[in-house]
Amino acid sequence: MTAKEVLTLDVNGARREIEVACGEILLTVLRDELRITSPKRGCNQGVCGACTILINGVPQRSCLSLAANCQSKEIRTLDALLDDGRMRKLQDSFQGNGAVQCGFCTSGMMITAWHFLETSDQPTATDIRSALSGNLCRCTGYQKIIDSVAEAAQETSQ
Ligand code: FES
Ligand code: FES
Repeated sequence: MTAKEVLTLDVNGARREIEVACGEILLTVLRDELRITSPKRGCNQGVCGACTILINGVPQRSCLSLAANCQSKEIRTLDALLDDGRMRKLQDSFQGNGAVQCGFCTSGMMITAWHFLETSDQPTATDIRSALSGNLCRCTGYQKIIDSVAEAAQETSQ
């Protein structure tokens, strides 16, 4: 029988108390226990970036994060950012540029881009490529995503 532990997590501003298997990863807790499915399970080994969320405001791969280690931290998924102005600009530009195809990478891409634009208001295409280099997309060829982030950056800086 798998040993269990009770965790208290701050997820998207709500205190969640939950019993999980000892050593459970955060991605599994979010998706399978709390039914928050915006972080995607891609590679499940830290390579693709599809599971990216914010932990204490910093993008992290939830498939590599032990849930128990996140108890005193702020966990935020894309869902918590949807009304944020910078995120809205990214949503509009991704949509306008056709940067969302299957959508599997989109949540992780947007969180990474949102955090990047927090400190980079006039990034070059090279800057954007570098910032997003840990997020893989199998559909778009990346250019539409780069263009979208550049457009959002331009609008944010106006
Ligand atoms: S699912 Fe976490 S990096 Fe791919
Ligand atoms: S839109 Fe399909 S993986 Fe990026």
